[in-house]
Amino acid sequence: MEKFVINGGTPLKGTVQISGAKNAAVALVAATILCDETCVLENVPEISDITKCLTILREMGAEVELIDKNTIKFNTKGITNPEVPYELARTMRASCYFLGTLLGRFHDAFVPMPGGCDLGDRPIDQHLKAFKALGASDEIVNGANHVYADELIGNQIYFDFVTVGATMNAIFASVKAKGLTIIENAAKEPHIVDLANFLNSMGADIRGAGTDVIKIRGVDYLHGVTYATIPDQIEAGTYMVAAAATKGDVVIANVIPKHLESITAKLRKCGVNVVENDESVHVWVDGPLMTTSIKTMPHPGFPTDMQPQFSTFLTLAEGTSIVTDDIFDNRFRYVAELRRMGADISVDGKVAVIQGVGRLTGAPVSATDLRAGAAMIIAGLAAEGTTEIDNIHYIERGYEKIDEKLRGLGADIKRVYIPEATSMKLSG
Ligand code: EPU
Repeated sequence: MEKFVINGGTPLKGTVQISGAKNAAVALVAATILCDETCVLENVPEISDITKCLTILREMGAEVELIDKNTIKFNTKGITNPEVPYELARTMRASCYFLGTLLGRFHDAFVPMPGGCDLGDRPIDQHLKAFKALGASDEIVNGANHVYADELIGNQIYFDFVTVGATMNAIFASVKAKGLTIIENAAKEPHIVDLANFLNSMGADIRGAGTDVIKIRGVDYLHGVTYATIPDQIEAGTYMVAAAATKGDVVIANVIPKHLESITAKLRKCGVNVVENDESVHVWVDGPLMTTSIKTMPHPGFPTDMQPQFSTFLTLAEGTSIVTDDIFDNRFRYVAELRRMGADISVDGKVAVIQGVGRLTGAPVSATDLRAGAAMIIAGLAAEGTTEIDNIHYIERGYEKIDEKLRGLGADIKRVYIPEATSMKLSG
């Protein structure tokens, strides 16, 4: 088993380059199924969720060629069987994007129930509602979602609540449908805009992405393009918070500062200096840390994907913070791990009350999911002493070379291989 071992207490200093956005790239990779020619994606993060998406495409018969570690060439013409293998789908939430892209191209898709981080129940009723509005039927066959249609016809789709995944799938399924589709109460995340820009550059007609009404006029053909993924807002936010938690001085480069505004605003409230430049943000601490309260919201609100990292940071401030996160059922599982490092947090349902303790101490802890794992790294970097983090495969789903990037900022973090028996003894 691999672990991260961190000797904490060193303020991070220097410049870190942010990779392409995971939650945009998984959608762009799936969208190549809708392209009738070869296309090239640049700035694709080298993370395990992308590797899985590439394997899904290859298994279905697509040509996928790595030009370099972040640039990938796709030709999906060879896909004949619109079926995602079970073993690949079940470990990743984004596998449900293949429902929309395969339906959009073949009018037929089999995708096993999606997996991903265990954040509680993650139904896909709104995805199916969108497909149905466009004329598709759905059924469960041997644990897989089967969606199919004779033809897809544009329609009005109203989501009962804001959902990123269902908005993506509604776009996938309608981009080549006949006539006009209007998505109301659409998600506004930067990755929705990135998907629309990618498809529009291929010849699609999508307007309004980034607002809560998206209008899509179906087209027959999408031509090949070269397109660069947007920078990862959550990776950038994670380094911003890591800089603040270690009282460091870090330039976070290759970002779109506008995408970081909710994180920037909260850090400033806590007494952290944040200066926005054209394509970077500079974060440093030169005074005491103060508390603030957070409620996660869909974009442009404070992202749920930053909640564990920010809450960890709040344990280091003086005073009480209230954190409300009701987007998923299960986003406070990391709290039990953080308590082992001295944090004082009580959780009641979707609300956490954090009493700042000023300092944390190193401990063996576990990454309970992707963002919880990032939170453990921040805790370990800020803590006195040594922190060992296991289950780091979760972290590698979404952070490219996080240990290498942190070492570049002066952190003492090592990746170590620990044989199973030894690891039980160490954390026993
Ligand atoms: N929901 C339903 N029915 C649906 C769809 C969603 O009940 O048909 C519920 C979900 O269970 C959740 C809420 O609606 O309670 C919002 O879900 P949403 O669809 O917006 O989330 P998602 O598409 O499953 C994406 C990201 C998540 C991120 C959320 C919220 C990807 C691949 N995943 O998930 O990213 O937390 O949006 O912003 O884009 C992460 O990167 O760590 C991560 C979990």
